[in-house]
Amino acid sequence: MGARTRIVSTGMFVPRRIVTNKELESYMDTSDEWIQQRSGIKERRWVSPGETTCSMAVAAARQALERANLKADDIDMIVFGALITDYLFPGTGVLLQRELGFSKPVPALDIRNQCSGFVYALSLADAWVRSGQYKRILIVGSEVHSTSLDLTTRGRDVSVLFGDGAGAMIVEACDENSPHIFDSCLHSEGKFAEVLTVTKPSSNDFPRISDKLSLDTAIYPHMDGKLVFKNAVTRMCQVLIELLGRNNMKPSDLNFVVAHQANMRINQMVLSELGIPFEKTHHTLDRYGNTTMATIPITFDEAVQLGKIKRGDLVAFVAFGAGFTWGANLLRF
Ligand code: UT7
Repeated sequence: MGARTRIVSTGMFVPRRIVTNKELESYMDTSDEWIQQRSGIKERRWVSPGETTCSMAVAAARQALERANLKADDIDMIVFGALITDYLFPGTGVLLQRELGFSKPVPALDIRNQCSGFVYALSLADAWVRSGQYKRILIVGSEVHSTSLDLTTRGRDVSVLFGDGAGAMIVEACDENSPHIFDSCLHSEGKFAEVLTVTKPSSNDFPRISDKLSLDTAIYPHMDGKLVFKNAVTRMCQVLIELLGRNNMKPSDLNFVVAHQANMRINQMVLSELGIPFEKTHHTLDRYGNTTMATIPITFDEAVQLGKIKRGDLVAFVAFGAGFTWGANLLRF
C-alpha cells in the first residue's frame, strides 16, 4: 500500500483588535456600504504592538498541535508562507521553528506564493509525504497586512480588503484506504506580476533604502482590481474543472469548497458558474477580510469546528492571487 497524505488537524489565530468599516471611514474617503457591497467585508482584525507574523503563526500552530495531541518534535518538516515577514531574512519559518520549541533541527521552508500560498504548500507537503521523505508536516500561513497599507484615500481600493491572521494545518502519512489528499493543480502567469504588487524597496534601487523611500507610493500595494477580479473568477473555475476532470469527478460530487477569501462576489460567481450551491461553502471574509495565505486554513478550520465539514467529506480548496498564481487541492477529509 502506497503512502498517502491525510489532514490531521488545523488551528487558527486572529488578533483581538476589530477594525470595522466605520473605523476605516475615519482614515479615508470610503463607506461601510461601498465596502460591504463591493467585497462582502464588514470588519477585519489588525495586530497590536507585540503581535507579529511569527507570533500569530505560533498561536495557530500550537492550536493545531494541541488538537492533534502532538508536540513540536512529532513534526518533521515546516512549510511557512507570508508576504510581510518579521525580518527581511531569515524567513519566518525558522523563527516559528525556534518558538515552537523543537529539540531537533527540523527543516523550515519559506514560500512566497501570496494568496495561493496555501494550495501550493499543501501540494508540496502531499508530494513530500507520498515520496516518503517526511511523515508529518506543519503548514502555516500568517499575515500582518495592517502595518504596511496606505490608509489614505489614495490606497482605499486595496486597504479596505486586507486583514491580519494566521492559519495552520498538520498533515501526515496514511494508507491509501484512509481519507486522503487526491491531487493538486498549480499554475502561474508572471506576465501579470505588476497587476497586484509592492515594488519597493527593490534590488534595482541604489541604494536600496534611501531617505526618499518613505515618500514613494511604490512601498504600498497597488492593484488593478478589475483585472484581478476577472482573472480570479476565470482561473478558479478552470482549475477546479481541470482538477476534478483528471480525477474523474464533477463539481456536483463535492461536499464542500473552501475558496480563498478575497471578494464575496468572486466566490459567488465561481460557485454559480460550476453549479455548486452556496450552502456547500463557508466564508470568513466578512469578519477577517483577506489574510492572503491564511484564508484557506482559517476558513477550513472554522467550517470544521462548526460541523459544516465532516470527516469523509469530499472537499476542494481553491485560490487565486498576485503573480498571478492560482491552484486547487482535492481531498477526502
Ligand atoms: O486575493 C487576490 C487579490 N485581490 C482580489 O481578488 C481583489 C479583486 N478585485 C476586487 O475585489 C474589486 O475589483 C475591488 C473590491 C477592489 C473594487 O471593486 P470594483 O467593483 O472593481 O470597483 P472599481 O475598482 O471599479 O471602483 C469603482 C469606484 C471607483 O470610483 P469611480 O472611478 O467610479 O468614481 C473607485 O475609485 O469605487 C471607487 N473606490 C472606492 N470607493 C469607496 C475604490 N475603492 C473604494 C473604497 N471606498 N474603498
